[in-house]
Amino acid sequence: MEEIEILKASDKKTRLIPNLPDYKSLYPNFSWERAKSELAWFPGGKINAAYNAVDRHLDSSACDKIALYWEGDKGEKSTYTFSQLAKLSNQWGNYLKKSGVVKGDRVFIFLPRIPDLFTSFLGILKIGAVAGTLFSAFQQQALFDRLEDSGAKILITNRELSLRLAEIRNKLPELKQVVIVDDNDFQKNLSAEQSDLEVMPMDPEDNAFMLYTSGTTGKPKGVVHKHLAILSQHVTAYHILDLHDEDIYWCTADPGWVTGIGYTILGSWSNKASEVIFSGRFDASRWYQILQDYKVTIWYTAPTAVRMLMAEGDLPKKYNLTSLRHILSVGEPLNPEAIRWGLKMFGLAFHDTWWQTETGCMCLVNYICNDTKLGSMGLPILGLSGGIVDDRGQEVPRKTEGNIALRPGWPSMMKEIWKRPEKYQSYFVNGWYISGDRGWEDEDGYFWFIGRSDDVIKTAGERVGPFEVESALIEHPAVVEAGVIGKPDELRGEIIKAFVDLKDEYKAKIADKSYEDQLKIELSQYVKKHLAGHAYPREVEFIDKLPKTRSGKIMRRILKAKEMGQPIGDTSTLEEY
Ligand code: WTA
Repeated sequence: MEEIEILKASDKKTRLIPNLPDYKSLYPNFSWERAKSELAWFPGGKINAAYNAVDRHLDSSACDKIALYWEGDKGEKSTYTFSQLAKLSNQWGNYLKKSGVVKGDRVFIFLPRIPDLFTSFLGILKIGAVAGTLFSAFQQQALFDRLEDSGAKILITNRELSLRLAEIRNKLPELKQVVIVDDNDFQKNLSAEQSDLEVMPMDPEDNAFMLYTSGTTGKPKGVVHKHLAILSQHVTAYHILDLHDEDIYWCTADPGWVTGIGYTILGSWSNKASEVIFSGRFDASRWYQILQDYKVTIWYTAPTAVRMLMAEGDLPKKYNLTSLRHILSVGEPLNPEAIRWGLKMFGLAFHDTWWQTETGCMCLVNYICNDTKLGSMGLPILGLSGGIVDDRGQEVPRKTEGNIALRPGWPSMMKEIWKRPEKYQSYFVNGWYISGDRGWEDEDGYFWFIGRSDDVIKTAGERVGPFEVESALIEHPAVVEAGVIGKPDELRGEIIKAFVDLKDEYKAKIADKSYEDQLKIELSQYVKKHLAGHAYPREVEFIDKLPKTRSGKIMRRILKAKEMGQPIGDTSTLEEY
């Protein structure tokens, strides 16, 4: 094993006394039950996550504190105080109620990171409906699958994105209304709504929001979270993001993914954080400019972004980034090299956090107060125990590879998989929640990541199911079948690679090399246009026959081994190869 590099907690330059000063002494004594007193409750043990994120601050000095510094792609700027967020979200709540939304209805949001995304999300929760978020790169197929499965009643979007509904709108009978936020009449109606609203007291177990995420097989599944999720999000944001009153916080994640809900809307605002939200795409100079202009102190981002910044070299030296005091990352393995680079450029170590859509909050983390072992995901959060188990849910000895597993019982564990109770059950073995990731635990209880135990792809930090990409490919007239894998990539972690079996007439045509190249581009663009702008194969390879099990399942594991030049392994269930 390679020598492990350790950054001592005492060498970290995070400037303020951390909100969690001592992990070892507090871990054994932590209780979620006691932590509940950090939140605001309604009589009878009722709660509302959106009320906790925003409205409860209104009778404190945070009422007029800036909650959101918003910057648009074209440099437009606006700011919102907590009191303004409360009013705007109340207007959304009132508008939706008038549109017939009642408790439990699904209302989906398909928007870029503009203020209406955040205020409508809060408004939906306030009236007891369930908010679903859709990443703005989604195209019609991805949209259709999610809107159909969730039975969304209302979709909130803008003019440009609404064009992607053209061919699916009439196949969605449960979708009663499409709200276009950049329509002048709509904005007039919204601002004419009352800015007072009685927030609905919810049972802590009531559904609050849902996100579609990918597994190995089948269409994406709806991971549903309850109002109580904010308890874990609040506590982890406080301890791990280390939000202090004077901080300016920037999380680069989109609310189409769980990080953008847990740590730009719920957990962070619940801690009264002043946040920056930038609606534009990744751009190294622009990002540094934002860090500098807003004097960002806490920055939560993803390893792919860090690698892209690294590729630009010494660029940070052109900016004044001395306001930064704490930096973190999530979504993919954070390599030691990225941490070293951060130390060189900012004098700070990126603190890795591991979690999932299903877990609803950070689970394995690097706390400021602990030593950081470069390359490790760190230790379980307070109130959670983690372990490494075999496929039967038996713990394996330390330093042995196995499934990364968690003991259920933390407040933000997903409540259900929408309409798929068996799928939900399949996560649990012998009293453990099995994450689908493989790893090991070292002698100090630090967790180390090895890889996925299934075929889920992580490209640029975003989770993509191979089945969705395969399904999109076979819609193309040239394609008989496709098998899709994640191929390791230095920048993006993985890229999507598709192995495609063509119809005979196309097989003949690709004898012409230039036609072959053109068809590869066409297939890749086809997925980009129909499924999603981020979930398309950057590489396509034509193959005569896909390896399959006797029952007809494509064996992606074999495609992957082939791609990596590795031994193919057990092929006893193969049809033929
Ligand atoms: C991966 C994102 C290595 C992992 C919040 C997990 C990570 C999946 C890390 C969940 C990390 C997340 N190191 N891998 N620090 N964090 N992952 O649902 O495979 O989009 O199962 O949630 O991302 O992705 P999801």
